[in-house]
Amino acid sequence: MRTPRFIAATLAATCLLPACKKDSDNATPSGNTSFSKTDYEIISTTLNLPESAFNYTGFNLPAHFLAPPVASTDNTPVNTNPITNDGATLGRVLFYDKGLSINNTIACASCHKQANSFTDPSQFSKGFLDGLTDRNSMSLANARYYVNGKFFWDERAVTLEDQTLMPIQHAVEMGMTLDSLEKKLSSKDYYKVLFKKAFSDDKITRDRVSKALAQFIRAMVSYQSKYDDGLTALGHAPAPNEDLPGFTQLENQGLRVFTANCAGPCHNTELQTMPVARNNGLDLVYADNGVGKITGRTIDNGKFKSPSLRNVMLTAPYMHDGRFQTIEQVLEHYSTGIKNHPNLDNRLKDPVTGEVRPLNLTQQQKNAIVAFLNTLTDTKFTTDVKYSNPFK
Ligand code: HEC
Repeated sequence: MRTPRFIAATLAATCLLPACKKDSDNATPSGNTSFSKTDYEIISTTLNLPESAFNYTGFNLPAHFLAPPVASTDNTPVNTNPITNDGATLGRVLFYDKGLSINNTIACASCHKQANSFTDPSQFSKGFLDGLTDRNSMSLANARYYVNGKFFWDERAVTLEDQTLMPIQHAVEMGMTLDSLEKKLSSKDYYKVLFKKAFSDDKITRDRVSKALAQFIRAMVSYQSKYDDGLTALGHAPAPNEDLPGFTQLENQGLRVFTANCAGPCHNTELQTMPVARNNGLDLVYADNGVGKITGRTIDNGKFKSPSLRNVMLTAPYMHDGRFQTIEQVLEHYSTGIKNHPNLDNRLKDPVTGEVRPLNLTQQQKNAIVAFLNTLTDTKFTTDVKYSNPFK
């Protein structure tokens, strides 16, 4: 079945744009943004950066990224903070710089590790004084494709640009003031070079720090999983009983069980993202009320954002408080453990009785879902040098 959406996607994917390059180009310099010789010498005393920037903008995205629904979930503010290769390069350096914490011990990357799709394998993360965060760190893969553009489990940051300065000032995480941040970064010659390259002059401001970090995070696009290959090979959205080429029988069964039970209005689109925060019945009474804690409204209690499930097999532990160590525990929750909280999402309730509608998955169905979730793993993304630590 060839829907108009996929025809549009195919047209968009025919690579007419200059930015649209071959896969092998992604990790190679884009060629148009070289440093001057003196500037390159300055940065090279501290940083391992290519002479001309990596390509953070012109991915060879598969068709299903270039058309709705995925394309319409992109939260990049194209007028005020478009991604540029130089901006994302600066963002990468900031992301890995322990100098963003007051005692030079913690970088963003300390709690958002590339090998784990930019989350932390610990339930809670250690901040600059070894204090623990009160929630589990979140994966940043495809954070760009969250349609309402809000960030954190409780969506308290209304944009990614707002979010990026918060950990820096957080009392447990990095403990800095923005005044001292600006001063500290201004004392380093390599930042003068990088800010000038990204923003036309070498003024170092909080606004630019926030924008550059947001550009780097939005450039973290994971699109090279087995699932992406399957969708590309099929060439259109799979019909309910259609198999993906290259998938095993178990993976295809998993795709169907996932689509029937987990996708729908919840983990939807080809990036398995949710449009808004929801309550998935973890508790009857929440110790942490998530969105409700921010809005003060009881109807928001126990609602949390779900990041994209891309690379989910690398992002354990799970849920806002990291309560589940394994994906099997997560499936058991949906299968038999859902609690009938007053805000429990409708999809997990019987519309007539209002009782919980547990998924009651068989062991075979659970195995199939896990096999499918494994197809969302993208190790090209988790090993790509352009997202790695640039410090020598
Ligand atoms: C000490 C650990 C720690 C550090 C350091 C840290 N984070 Fe986080 N990050 C977390 C935790 C924990 C959460 C979830 C917090 C919450 O929702 O209340 C989070 C959430 C996020 C999110 C939200 C993702 C989403 O999908 O909503 C973004 C974006 C993010 N961090 C970026 C950064 C950046 C940029 C830095 C550096 C300036 C940084 N983090 C530093 C632990 C950390």
